[in-house]
Amino acid sequence: MLQLPKVIGHRGAAAYAPENTLASFREARRRGATWVEIDVKLTRDGVPIVMHDASLKRTMGIDRLVAEMSRAELPADVPTFEEAIACFAELGLGCNVEIKPCEGREQETARVTVETLRRAWPARLPPPLLSSFKDASLEAAREAAPEFARAILLDDIQDNWRTRTDAVGAVGVNTSGKRLTAPRAVEIRAAGFALSVYTINDGAIAKALVGMGVHCIITDAPDVILAALN
Ligand code: G3P
Ligand code: MG
Repeated sequence: MLQLPKVIGHRGAAAYAPENTLASFREARRRGATWVEIDVKLTRDGVPIVMHDASLKRTMGIDRLVAEMSRAELPADVPTFEEAIACFAELGLGCNVEIKPCEGREQETARVTVETLRRAWPARLPPPLLSSFKDASLEAAREAAPEFARAILLDDIQDNWRTRTDAVGAVGVNTSGKRLTAPRAVEIRAAGFALSVYTINDGAIAKALVGMGVHCIITDAPDVILAALN
């Protein structure tokens, strides 16, 4: 089965540093995380960058869409995916790479993400885990680079979850820790999937989820969750 750490820093350590920045990855490492989760999308000119939202408004105060900007127009503190990977190499961090495409670029974003991983991911780091809410992205990732493990992101797990994981060849299910029920956790584990939950920042809730069989907690505050689980 897919080997994941108990804790993954969400967007780095988003509780302590600007999300999805190199500073956030360093903060996650300082606070004990061995892996981080990041969101990857493409600029207008096809450069993979690390950014959650379609727009720069919330995080950067700039009211423009990533899909309409070239890499050169973006603020320098938005890392390219390659800059993020270089930072992980320096820090020894593993990564859950969430493919977060701008609308209509589901397949292209997946292809560029896996091409970048093939070229730049350091062999001495643990192999990355790909994830996405977009089945089309996971399918494209599988077609282009089947060697990278995939997890399906499901905010709310429906009865067809197994059909969807099988359709994209996922070995993991990443879901909302707030919505996950105990029977569903048992079912997913029994079927042999790695089960991760987001975004849990409360130690007691994390412990309860691990008690339900969750393998990995994705959190903005890795130090808090590590302290609660250890
Ligand atoms: O990958 C876990 C989590 O990041 C998924 O939701 O919206 O925070 O990217 P979101
Ligand atoms: Mg994400």
